[in-house]
Amino acid sequence: MTAWQPPVRTLRDVLVDAERRLANAGVPTPRVDAELMLAHVLGVPRGRLFLSDPADPADTVRFESLLVRRAARVPLQHLLGEAAFRHLVLEVGRGVFVPRPETETVAELAIHALTADSEERLAVDLCTGSGAIALALATEVPHSVVHAVELEGAAFEWAERNVANHAEALAAARSTVHLHRGDARTAHLDSLAALVGRTDVVVSNPPYIPDDAVPRDPEVREYDPPRALYGGHDGLDVVRGVVVTAAALLRTGGVVVIEHSDQQGESGGESGVPHVLREHGAFTAVRDLPDLAGRDRVCVAVRL
Ligand SMILES: C[S@@+](CC[C@H](N)C(=O)[O-])C[C@H]1O[C@@H](n2cnc3c(N)ncnc32)[C@H](O)[C@@H]1O
Repeated sequence: MTAWQPPVRTLRDVLVDAERRLANAGVPTPRVDAELMLAHVLGVPRGRLFLSDPADPADTVRFESLLVRRAARVPLQHLLGEAAFRHLVLEVGRGVFVPRPETETVAELAIHALTADSEERLAVDLCTGSGAIALALATEVPHSVVHAVELEGAAFEWAERNVANHAEALAAARSTVHLHRGDARTAHLDSLAALVGRTDVVVSNPPYIPDDAVPRDPEVREYDPPRALYGGHDGLDVVRGVVVTAAALLRTGGVVVIEHSDQQGESGGESGVPHVLREHGAFTAVRDLPDLAGRDRVCVAVRL
């Protein structure tokens, strides 16, 4: 007679349990997160999860450890060690801002401007973080030259890693990304001085949260670096500097693209990015464009 064995837990059982635990912890997308973590542990794409064999004990232990940390609201991307951005997979972790889906629209506008109306295909990404926007531009716009500026040492190192990881894609596009460690507000005076008046596109997703508007999600509040989030009393300290740098770098007809919060568009009045651009005086055709959810999250303008 064979000894009694406990029933084998199928992957489906494992996922149902994980989804429940993540939902109880307040994770906004518990099923997707559970599937992505399990696929990561098993080394298969998420779409092939249910074609995999049941997890062996070592995989189960690894999955449980990820699950516990995700339930403690460690960002999914930190646990996986990577974040998807457009067609790119970027390495991320402590010390760098996790690129967001809404910024893909910002990158898309910059890509459109650089492809449609560009003299040298010369672009600048101010506040580059992981290098997400710079790498999207350089790999999606052939023959482009993209300069990217980042102030923080830890974030700069992630950007360096990501640029190195995408060397093949950059070579295939015949494009280059040049990283500069420094302040986006003064880059036109030092590292980018040679680009003054020549640049086709300046794009930026700067820090823009007002200092006293601490984000609710623990993943953001506790894991995105403070320098990536907060922009002074009205959130626009870095934005104002980015506008000055963009005005200096852009050629006539060049385009600036700046991400902002949904309260910093036209409806934000003097606390809005369109106001900052108009007040500067060097730009025309200033307008907000909606994101996929229809909210104003990005402002574009053309250098006079
Ligand atoms: C909101 S994150 C955006 C990162 C990246 N562009 C993205 O979209 O994922 C802002 C980044 O700007 C950097 N930063 C903040 N102030 C800066 C400054 N004055 N000059 C350059 N970089 C700055 C932060 O360290 C952070 O990496």
